[in-house]
Amino acid sequence: MPNLDYVYDQEQNKILGCRKNTVDEFYLRNVVHHLPDMKRTFECLIEYLKEDGEIKIIDVREEYFRTNVILDTIWYRYVIPRYEVWFSRHYRNYFEILESLGMKKVDYYIQEEKEVSIWKKSFKS
Ligand SMILES: C[S@@+](CC[C@H](N)C(=O)[O-])C[C@H]1O[C@@H](n2cnc3c(N)ncnc32)[C@H](O)[C@@H]1O
Repeated sequence: MPNLDYVYDQEQNKILGCRKNTVDEFYLRNVVHHLPDMKRTFECLIEYLKEDGEIKIIDVREEYFRTNVILDTIWYRYVIPRYEVWFSRHYRNYFEILESLGMKKVDYYIQEEKEVSIWKKSFKS
């Protein structure tokens, strides 16, 4: 299965050059807490997923979120100042958003300060 490089255009909410309903899996490691509008971005990803495609998410879990805000602030504002990098200051329930968009959680586990969740678009009958 090829790993292809595409660019997500946040303004247009499109993946440039990618056809809809063609993607097997999106893998978002440490990305979700950087998305200003999670619902809008997830809606976009879901359009590009195949019928039985999946989204795999690894992100900071609620218990460690405050610590991560402190680390992101130090990193993105002082160590390598990148003011364009946005990050949420509080934990947001992205499970609820994915569920409201019809995604089904097929796996969940905790890995130290992160939580891993795997979401399926739909099940073929
Ligand atoms: C902390 S880095 C994680 C990079 C890589 N996934 C990893 O785990 O090593 C956060 C990444 O989120 C992505 N990102 C941040 N804001 C985004 C946005 N608004 N839309 C899409 N991707 C975004 C960027 O690719 C950025 O490199």
